[in-house]
Amino acid sequence: MAQYNSPILPQFTADFACNCLDKQVVMSKLTILRYPDSRLYTKAKPVSKVDDRIRQLAQDMAETMYDAPGIGLAATQVDVHEELIIIDISETRDALQVFINPKLVWTEGLAEREEGCLSVPGIYDKVRRAERIRVRALNLEGKPFELEAEGLLAVCIQHEMDHLLGKVFVQYLSPLKQTRIRSKLKKRQRETM
Ligand code: NI
Repeated sequence: MAQYNSPILPQFTADFACNCLDKQVVMSKLTILRYPDSRLYTKAKPVSKVDDRIRQLAQDMAETMYDAPGIGLAATQVDVHEELIIIDISETRDALQVFINPKLVWTEGLAEREEGCLSVPGIYDKVRRAERIRVRALNLEGKPFELEAEGLLAVCIQHEMDHLLGKVFVQYLSPLKQTRIRSKLKKRQRETM
């Protein structure tokens, strides 16, 4: 996700362990798929083993996200169809969160918020999602953790988890809006070619 209005600070549960990456390791930038690229509709498979390959993927995705710049990125967006998402909603851009094989434990309430997406550059619109969530995932050591989130973080987690299901946020909008967005992005692509 690229940008939001009026961010609300997330609330973390005490058992949440930060899985920050070692920034000393060499990283490389990946190409982000652009909507309506059909590869964005691919359903990701669970990560079978959290190993160096997965840690390197998370590193490369982090560099790609920070460079974009964005606050979240799903592996699907870099054409890797495994269940891995990364998020950093901090203003200081130094609080990376990695979720491997994320699952929602429960959701509560509904809230509408403006969303954007690195795969749909320059497009922002309101989407209704659960207001509060509890997510279970593995960290980069392959250890399970659970996290409760609300506000921007809850939106971001749900948005990125949708990518793993092959879903882009514009698919929540009306067919007319989706058509307009597709033609706008195609026009812009032609202009920059
Ligand atoms: Ni996105």
